[in-house]
Amino acid sequence: MYEYFNEPFSFKLDLTPEQMLKVIFEYTAKIATEKKLENVLVLMSNMGRDMVVADRCTVWLIDAASNELFTVVAHGIGEIRIPYGSGLVGSAISTGQPIFIDDAYGDPRHNPESDKKTGYRTKSIMTIPFRNNQGEVIGAYQAINKLTQKQSFSTQDMDYLTLAAAYSGKSLESIMLHQEIIETQKEIILAMGNIGEGRSKETGNHVKRVAQYSYILAAGLGMSQVEAEMLRSASPMHDIGKVAIPDAILQKPGKLTAAEFEQMKEHCTIGYQLLRKSKRQLLQAAAIVAWQHHEKWDGTGYPQGLAGENIHIYGRITALADVFDALGSARAYKEAWPLERILQLIKEERGRHFDPQLVDVFFEQLPLILEVREQNEDLFETE
Ligand code: C2E
Ligand code: SIN
Ligand code: SIN
Ligand code: FE
Ligand code: FE
Repeated sequence: MYEYFNEPFSFKLDLTPEQMLKVIFEYTAKIATEKKLENVLVLMSNMGRDMVVADRCTVWLIDAASNELFTVVAHGIGEIRIPYGSGLVGSAISTGQPIFIDDAYGDPRHNPESDKKTGYRTKSIMTIPFRNNQGEVIGAYQAINKLTQKQSFSTQDMDYLTLAAAYSGKSLESIMLHQEIIETQKEIILAMGNIGEGRSKETGNHVKRVAQYSYILAAGLGMSQVEAEMLRSASPMHDIGKVAIPDAILQKPGKLTAAEFEQMKEHCTIGYQLLRKSKRQLLQAAAIVAWQHHEKWDGTGYPQGLAGENIHIYGRITALADVFDALGSARAYKEAWPLERILQLIKEERGRHFDPQLVDVFFEQLPLILEVREQNEDLFETE
């Protein structure tokens, strides 16, 4: 009886060379066109599992920034992280050598804790590091429980997995680099958004909430996932131009004079000029948002007085997200409004300040929007 399964179990066979080729061709084609790191990791894991006839297979990668190893678990469960040198994976990666274990319980290198928690019985393990084009180790495959009668992994399995990793390594590396750049851009944008926010004493989570609302509106409008995510990253920049507005105006407790408001309005064009020279798509989107978030559907907004669809959809979305949040928050010059009054204003401004279609999406998505609002409340709202 196969000891780590409760149900009746029949051993599987190793793949024939034809089956092996089929698996490799099918997965590498999918991997080559995939853009998301988590999806590539899941595809690689499944490919590895199928090739070596393992019960489970995990692809681990090095996160150099945090000195950790991480993996993405299939079916959206999330990420697992462990310290760089830890576990079998850690040893394989730091020594660059594969590790085979035929019976995990007879081997001191295996940590039985996770099996105890899950009730899973780990028997055979094969952990092999893989390298990028420069020969540096960038991660490892870990296959668990060989399902053939032999119940242990062979050096041939290792050769196959190494081959698979070499095929996927290039896609993997370019995606990781791309991801790194995107993450960096997002961090810079949030940091810069917070600079604008700090200057105007807008409390805590304003830029984060505006980001989430923008995403919900964009997705609700039917924008692609990729574009909605980009807008979510870009919309926190909408007020970055406020860095150039004097504190005396930004933090004025009362109503602005006409002259002061004219000066305040410049934050749109200033933000646009700060961002527009970048060729990065994300910063281009942020430039549009900074420039157009105070335009109004009926043409009475600023700085350009654009109307209707002449206002970029990013500007229309961020306008609604920003005003919804500004009204609900206390400012140096005003108290927070009660929700009922805010919703009333948004209804009244349908087709005036705001894109009517977008207002409809707003009310469709209101439960989700209110959830975001509750989860990101400002802690010190009154000042
Ligand atoms: P903000 O505080 O982030 O507000 C963004 C937008 O939310 C405003 O754009 C406006 O459309 C809406 N909003 C915010 N509070 C109210 C309100 O009490 N009533 C109504 N009807 N709408 C509101 P707006 O008006 O173009 O203002 C742009 C920025 O100028 C504001 O950003 C704020 O920083 C500043 N600002 C506007 N009015 C005053 C004021 O009377 N005093 C001071 N100190 N600053 C002001
Ligand atoms: C290890 O390789 O020991 C950690 C990961 C695992 O238990 O599967
Ligand atoms: C878009 O590029 O997402 C839409 C363009 C527009 O509506 O202005
Ligand atoms: Fe603004
Ligand atoms: Fe704002």
